[in-house]
Amino acid sequence: MKSNQQALSFGDTYQRGISSTFNSANEDHVIFNGDARDLMKSMPDESVKLVITSPPYNIGKVYENPVSLEEYLEEQMSITNELIRVLHPQGSLCWEVGNYVNKGEIVPLDIPFYNIFKKHGLKLRNRIVWTFGHGLHASKRFSGRYETILWFTKEDNYTFNLDPVRVPSKYPGKRNYKGDKKGEPSGNPLGKNPSDIWTFIAQDWEREIWDIPNVKANHPEKTSHPCQFPVELVQRCILALTNENDIVLDPFGGIGTSVLASDIAARRGIMADLQSDYCEMAVDRIGQMRDGSLKIRPIGTPVFKPTGKEKVSQVPEEWLGLVK
Ligand SMILES: C[S@@+](CC[C@H](N)C(=O)[O-])C[C@H]1O[C@@H](n2cnc3c(N)ncnc32)[C@H](O)[C@@H]1O
Repeated sequence: MKSNQQALSFGDTYQRGISSTFNSANEDHVIFNGDARDLMKSMPDESVKLVITSPPYNIGKVYENPVSLEEYLEEQMSITNELIRVLHPQGSLCWEVGNYVNKGEIVPLDIPFYNIFKKHGLKLRNRIVWTFGHGLHASKRFSGRYETILWFTKEDNYTFNLDPVRVPSKYPGKRNYKGDKKGEPSGNPLGKNPSDIWTFIAQDWEREIWDIPNVKANHPEKTSHPCQFPVELVQRCILALTNENDIVLDPFGGIGTSVLASDIAARRGIMADLQSDYCEMAVDRIGQMRDGSLKIRPIGTPVFKPTGKEKVSQVPEEWLGLVK
């Protein structure tokens, strides 16, 4: 894997409450510029309540050198072994992946990763489908519009808080029509279970894309990282699977979305990334979030639906009569 790891002196640039190395005695977030295995060497057994990450997919993104699938999985296993060691007995692991693609043939990466985690005795609680509206248009297969999150727990007794992540019910006015509770509302006033299909857009550019075409490349939320997590996807996992002050670890932290979401939820966020520029961006984003200048989609914001009045949702004049 490519690395531009440098001996960064983060002393001046790091914000209050963010360290560049792990120290179990303090309450800081950690943004470690280096290999995830080196970060974990300094972490005690069973110290992490939630591992949440999206590993490289071995598909030639700027931060990776593609190798054979076997070599890739071998490398990943040297990291997953350590992740299991640091995972708390009541903890969870959320592994977000898409497809590895080789000469047009796809391998959904959750298939080999399922087997890797099962060998460690983890228990699968959900295979969550994350759908998003946009992406490349394929010409020789159907365009891919989802990835998956494998949510495993280490044991049967695990932290799961449903109430903070409930979503509005479709029919809150429904009532029980029989039994002791006949006539009473049948749902939960806090909303319903969000289910295992999650629709989060990758970046909140939609209104701008529809209302002001071509703004995408200049939008302030766009970063140079090619595949950042939506903050609300990580927030949902953190709120449901950890409690305040628990440790959340992202071994492939990128530009720090998991640490950002941990900060918002008063958890301790720990991440590693080989790239010094991503680590610097992670530190900057946390600073911007704290001073209110970072644009973040508030959790639960409905995905924007075009009204049909936006210019880009209208059929171009040249296509009139051709469109089905
Ligand atoms: C898919 S991206 C993760 C993006 C992240 N979820 C975010 O929201 O920014 C994977 C990241 O893993 C980093 N990476 C790859 N191998 C690594 C390793 N051995 N240790 C630490 N980071 C690594 C890459 O530099 C890349 O930024």
